[in-house]
Amino acid sequence: MVLAGTLNAVPVSAGSTPADPSEQSLRALGARHGLYIGTAVDMAALDDANDPQYRQLVASQFNTVTAENVMKWESLEPTRGTYDWAPADKLIEFAKRNNQKVRGHVLVWQNQLPAWLTEGVANGTITTAQLRDLLKKHITNVVKRYKGKIWQWDVVNEAASDPWDTPAEIHLKGFWAQHLGAGYIADAFRWARAADPSALLFYNDYNLEAFGDKGLSDKTWYVYKMAKQLRQSGVPIDGVGSQGHLGTQYGNYDAFQVKEALDAFSDLGLATAFTEVDVRSQMTAGVQAGDSNEINPRLQASAGNYSVLMQACLANRHCLSYTVWGFTDKHSWVPTWFTNPPEGLATLYDESYQPKRAYNSIKADLIFSGPPYVQPRIQQNPRR
Ligand code: XIL
Repeated sequence: MVLAGTLNAVPVSAGSTPADPSEQSLRALGARHGLYIGTAVDMAALDDANDPQYRQLVASQFNTVTAENVMKWESLEPTRGTYDWAPADKLIEFAKRNNQKVRGHVLVWQNQLPAWLTEGVANGTITTAQLRDLLKKHITNVVKRYKGKIWQWDVVNEAASDPWDTPAEIHLKGFWAQHLGAGYIADAFRWARAADPSALLFYNDYNLEAFGDKGLSDKTWYVYKMAKQLRQSGVPIDGVGSQGHLGTQYGNYDAFQVKEALDAFSDLGLATAFTEVDVRSQMTAGVQAGDSNEINPRLQASAGNYSVLMQACLANRHCLSYTVWGFTDKHSWVPTWFTNPPEGLATLYDESYQPKRAYNSIKADLIFSGPPYVQPRIQQNPRR
């Protein structure tokens, strides 16, 4: 006679009990899926001897890092012709020591350009032809310097306008389009490819999490069509990065909508990634006074949005990395950038490095997911 229950009995020995997965780091849990978990790094915080937790958490929780500022043109070449590589070199060395990949950020962007460049263009001492040469030289210098050390480069950042600024029609915005015309985008990818044939080359932007009506004021649709055009023309673009700067005051998206957008990009032959995730909230008087009635819904909404992006990334096998734009409210760009009304509470850890609900939400997503709906990543090869 077979006793009820014995057929399903699983022998348990002390040694075979799996480690509590919630004790594992995000990077270890991401590795189960081949997914890299990253953060932007503030070099001043990383260097601060009085802030050892910052360093410790960057090293232990993440296996890809992005320079929050020190690889931007104004930081690298504050004076024309004189590069200051030291802070960026430091990050690359830190990453190597901690077995981390590096996302290079950023080669072409209209913000944080050196004053000598923008002023030279404004006063006519730098001509259009010279500007194009300067851009080519900059891309070549930077990409060559870090050749073989950068996994993904954000080659072009935030080139498309937003529906709230240009409701009639999305178009290319900013300094580079204005002075060099639309062709600068393809040029930039070609120059970057020539300088490091092994780095994955990304277009990176915000407000790309999901499609809208696929009409003229749909930014995701605009960038999708642009990426498609670039691929069809043989431009060496390997991926599209969705920054993932969200706010809990907005409607935002569900995981199916976000997955649809990632799938559309990867169907073009592109890798995808979340590159700058944070989910901010308005710091009302109640929040600032510590009123839990106001704080809790914001923390939960933030966690929900982090999770939506994580689930969509896990579901798209070409989504190579999920990077947050800072991991602690102690060092987040949000309170200094969004001041009217004041915003904050945007990251995974509070100001005292306590993990918030958002941290555990994405950790749970990484733990409780697997086949058949979540499969390992498909690596991207640079376009030849
Ligand atoms: C931000 C940094 O976090 C700030 O420290 C800096 O003052 C301004 O830039 N999109 C990007 C990032 O691509 O480079 C920006 O980083 C945030 C928005």
